[in-house]
Amino acid sequence: MSGNNKIDTGIGNTGESRKKSGARSGSGAEKLAIHGGLPVRTEPFHAWPVFDKREEELLLQALKSLDWSFNGPLELKFAEMFSKFHDAPFGFCVVNGSVSLEIALKIADIRPGDEVIVPPLTWMGTAASVLFKNAVPVFVDIEPDTYCIDPDLVEAAITPRTRAIIPVHLYGNMADMDRIMEIAEKRGLTVIEDCAHTHGSKWRGKGAGSIGDFGSFSFQQSKLITSGEGGFIMTKKEAFAEEIYAYKHVGYHRKGKMWNFFYEGDYDKGLLKGAFIGEKKNTFIGHNYRFNDFQAAVLLAQLERLPAQIRKREENAAILSQGLSAINGVKPMRRDPRVSRQSYYQYVFRCGIEEFLGVKSTQIRDALRAEGISCGIVYDPVYRCPLFSPDTGGYPFKFSDYGEKVKYDELYLKVVETAATHEAITIPHEVLLGSRKDISDIIEAVAKVRKNRDILKETGR
Ligand SMILES: Cc1ncc(COP(=O)(O)O)c(C=O)c1O
Repeated sequence: MSGNNKIDTGIGNTGESRKKSGARSGSGAEKLAIHGGLPVRTEPFHAWPVFDKREEELLLQALKSLDWSFNGPLELKFAEMFSKFHDAPFGFCVVNGSVSLEIALKIADIRPGDEVIVPPLTWMGTAASVLFKNAVPVFVDIEPDTYCIDPDLVEAAITPRTRAIIPVHLYGNMADMDRIMEIAEKRGLTVIEDCAHTHGSKWRGKGAGSIGDFGSFSFQQSKLITSGEGGFIMTKKEAFAEEIYAYKHVGYHRKGKMWNFFYEGDYDKGLLKGAFIGEKKNTFIGHNYRFNDFQAAVLLAQLERLPAQIRKREENAAILSQGLSAINGVKPMRRDPRVSRQSYYQYVFRCGIEEFLGVKSTQIRDALRAEGISCGIVYDPVYRCPLFSPDTGGYPFKFSDYGEKVKYDELYLKVVETAATHEAITIPHEVLLGSRKDISDIIEAVAKVRKNRDILKETGR
């Protein structure tokens, strides 16, 4: 299997020489690599993305088919398989996972001035999709132990203007879909699951993305299956499926009549392959949000590999959680027992503020990276992005239909702020595809950083 993004830690010493060196910090702990000690490891972790002969074979098949776009055979096959994998009856490939959210909001008829509840800890595209509809993102804080949107706070944030909720299954954890669906059904709200981080997860045996009204996925390069870029939207409602089809195909319905053509018969070998048979006319403006068969070729191969990768990540994550839990102040995220299959996009753990003496998460990240560990921190709260400053004025949302000012600059949501500044460290999913030794190196490095927390605090780095 091949992959090109080897992680170069830029550190030359081996673990063996480190053990012999006895380099120590003032606190009696082994000196951190960031302070001149020897790193825990120097070898790269598992690479991402990966491919093998299967991608090559399917890409060649797509190439030779001369059927590269507009419901190509591999696209239709992938759409069917990916939907089934998540227990959704309808699903469509689209250009990316931002557009798929926008499509869901469009089909849900979200209008200017409507409120859409979103978590503050997510990629900004989740909230930006709401702005594309000139609607108002309402940020609701997350649960401290899953980092997914807190259902109690969702309920409290509902106003007469609320029309939809976008729970994000963040880093592979799943939002509490029982509570969210209960709240939404009671209030007649649309639920759009943002599944960009959780291809293949299941909630009480049901696939992520098939529980709410819509499920949205991304196939951008860092994601759990990837064609470089790409997205997917699924739904359980046939009427929505027809609208999605039309919206991604320039407004033409599957069983429809184009404004200047009328197709009859079997078009399987023709350019448009029977897409527009019937009487229904295109009734709304749509985009060209189409996919191509080369993307589908790569994704089909990646999907074949996904179940085994999910199992491997789950196994390694369990070992990592066990090891990290033994370190004072380190807390893995809670896995809700209703998550019957957990597909990790990132493995996240928390470093307790008191036990780490308030050392910032950026310091912990930098210290771990110097130890040769591939890691990061979580997103900044989305409402901090200048796009949400009322003074910006340049983005689509002008507040004109809303009638009151939204002041995101005064927003401070405690759980997300703590996660972003102090607590959370992320490990990319490809690391979980590695060996047991990789996992024990991570545990060793975190323990080493924990032991040196007073020096990190003193030096500020
Ligand atoms: C949570 C979340 N939602 C939406 C998106 C948007 O997906 P894309 O990059 O395919 O547009 C991303 C991408 O990283 C994401 O992480």
